[in-house]
Amino acid sequence: MKSLEYREWLNQHVKIGQEVLWVTQAEVEELGITRQEVFDLTGKALAYHGRKEVEMPAKIGIHPKTQANTLMHAMPGYIPAEFVACVKWGGCFPENREKFNLAQTSGLMVFNDHESGLPVAVTDAVWITKMRTAAVSANGAKYLANTDARVSGMIGCGVQGKEHVKFMEFALPKLDKILVYDVNPAAMDALIAEAQPIVKAKIVKAASFEEVVKNAEVVFSASTITASPSPRIKDEWVTGGQTLIMADMHTLYDDRTMKRADKYLVDSIEEHVYFAGIGYYPHGLPNIYGETGEVVAGIKKGRESRSELIVDNNTGMSVEDAMMVRAIVDRALEKKVGRLLPL
Ligand SMILES: NC(=O)c1ccc[n+]([C@@H]2O[C@H](COP(=O)([O-])OP(=O)(O)OC[C@H]3O[C@@H](n4cnc5c(N)ncnc54)[C@H](O)[C@@H]3O)[C@@H](O)[C@H]2O)c1
Repeated sequence: MKSLEYREWLNQHVKIGQEVLWVTQAEVEELGITRQEVFDLTGKALAYHGRKEVEMPAKIGIHPKTQANTLMHAMPGYIPAEFVACVKWGGCFPENREKFNLAQTSGLMVFNDHESGLPVAVTDAVWITKMRTAAVSANGAKYLANTDARVSGMIGCGVQGKEHVKFMEFALPKLDKILVYDVNPAAMDALIAEAQPIVKAKIVKAASFEEVVKNAEVVFSASTITASPSPRIKDEWVTGGQTLIMADMHTLYDDRTMKRADKYLVDSIEEHVYFAGIGYYPHGLPNIYGETGEVVAGIKKGRESRSELIVDNNTGMSVEDAMMVRAIVDRALEKKVGRLLPL
């Protein structure tokens, strides 16, 4: 389909310039977009990014002082080949659970017609963020890990941890054990209750960071991002052949581990340089081998030997949200889900 044909199709469902489609979180979830689709959509987003076929400025943000370590990011993304121009406005407030019994991550997406720039849809972004972040980590594992790994690890068992565990087998089909660890033991139980029915490998509670890191060939983490790292994982526990994939930056790791990796990748160099500029890497960024998307696109080599230590540090990119929101808007319009509101 050509761009103007797509616009015409959109316009048959939403009168562009007069209406917007509003899709709630529950409705987004009901659309039936599968994990396999999300894995593929995020893989495509990474590849577009790797080939520089996107426009994606580094996030800009504000940091309300109402809680520690808050962030609210504006994330515009444009993928011309997919006719998607959008922005995510998302927040992360780590004390929400304790203070308000609310999730720490929130957000909305605005999807625009890239021919005229007008808004077409506003959708929930919480489900998008949860799914695409875990799927990006799994895509990282597909290209960077020893994919015959039998044991993986998950540190941080909240919203992201649960979803990461559900995505691991897309990249690591031979897993027979997933070790999980969280400073809050109840979070581990909740993860197992939710994810075990979906996952083939046995999910096992670990007793410590050490147990996870010394046994897992691929270690995923999604705990809490803090501006200055508070390392819990000793450098000597990490060995060659492991792959460390983080959605929570360097928070848990010793700087020596980050700097001695054979390959250190990030999702967007521009983003991480920006984060370094506002103080997130007090010891400085390691030498960056490349971007996750460059490996997914085949521009740079992923894992080249079984013994390499590889680190993949992804903070999340708007182009991943863009691929997701395009699928959501299309599916919602096809299935007549959501409601039209006047502009
Ligand atoms: N990279 C991305 O694209 C992206 C996107 C969304 C969220 N995130 C990040 O992922 C992380 C998790 O988000 P979430 O929505 O799952 O939050 P959540 O609050 O649902 O879960 C976080 C879990 O981590 C645990 N935890 C906190 N500190 C820990 C530590 N030092 N060691 C082990 N466990 C610890 C908590 O007990 C909690 O169970 C956050 O840091 C968030 O900023 C990253």
